[in-house]
Amino acid sequence: ITPSAAPAAPAPLPETTATHRTATPRHFLMCPPVHFDVVYAINPWMDVTVPVDAGYAVVQWQALKAAYESHGHTVDVISPVPGLPDMVYAANGGVVVGGKALAARFTFPERQPEGVAYEAWLRDAGPARGLTSLGQAAERNEGEGDLLWDGEVMLAGTGFRTTRGAHAEVAEKLGVEVLTLELVDPRFYHLDTALTVLSTAGSGPDGGPRAEIAYFPAAFTPESQAVLRERYPDAIEATEADAAVLGLNAVSDGRHVFLTDRATGMHAALRERGFEPVGIDLSELLKGGGSVKCCTLELRPAPSAAVPTPA
Ligand code: ARG
Repeated sequence: ITPSAAPAAPAPLPETTATHRTATPRHFLMCPPVHFDVVYAINPWMDVTVPVDAGYAVVQWQALKAAYESHGHTVDVISPVPGLPDMVYAANGGVVVGGKALAARFTFPERQPEGVAYEAWLRDAGPARGLTSLGQAAERNEGEGDLLWDGEVMLAGTGFRTTRGAHAEVAEKLGVEVLTLELVDPRFYHLDTALTVLSTAGSGPDGGPRAEIAYFPAAFTPESQAVLRERYPDAIEATEADAAVLGLNAVSDGRHVFLTDRATGMHAALRERGFEPVGIDLSELLKGGGSVKCCTLELRPAPSAAVPTPA
């Protein structure tokens, strides 16, 4: 008697052919969610009646940190401060480009002490990491939540948190060109919930001059949609379903894209372009209105000095 056949194994995932995509090692700052909770509601994702499991949030956060490290990236950790339940969203702590670090100035009083904590870290730990602290922003500025560097310009969100005045301050203090984009949907209250940079300018398959991005058009005013379409005609336009699980709240190293495992359409779109999606489950931190990118502040070093040629 032949034993009944085991159920067929699922078909293997198609092999990625992402050979033209190159990952570059990144340096990130993260904050463990040991004090994570939802005790106030400053965005539509937050519901103070839904219980939060900080222990489980830490486990999920550790998996994200381990994923970065196993892909060759360096992660620094800032000490979490009791009473600051949103401090886990390190992207909001500041913005660092070319070794210059500008700490945030938060909109809501509940988060304002975080600006001080991130400023202190950047000032104290920065120099050993090649960073110069410019102190805290004078204008209302929620760091990489609203300020995404594309390698050439700073994409700068406004409408809910970071102000246009802050965009001007960033242009001046970091010495970068700023492109203002206006957000209109309260679910996508930070730019990094509606747009992600996949490859930076000059690093494309053929060293192309423009960055590659993905975004959810309906999160922006018609004017800002036109700006995005003009500048990034080949962008991935995310579906509402992917945006609504914060599938755009992603971190790319140029090849691997770390994002929620729930954004299945985005995973497929990324594979199609030769990126390798790395699915992460951050379900607890979604209760605060954040995902992968929110938990990650990128520390971009100053351009390294030219290697001297031996005589
Ligand atoms: N609860 C936080 C807030 O509303 C979430 C911040 C998420 N961070 C981000 N980079 N989008 O401020």
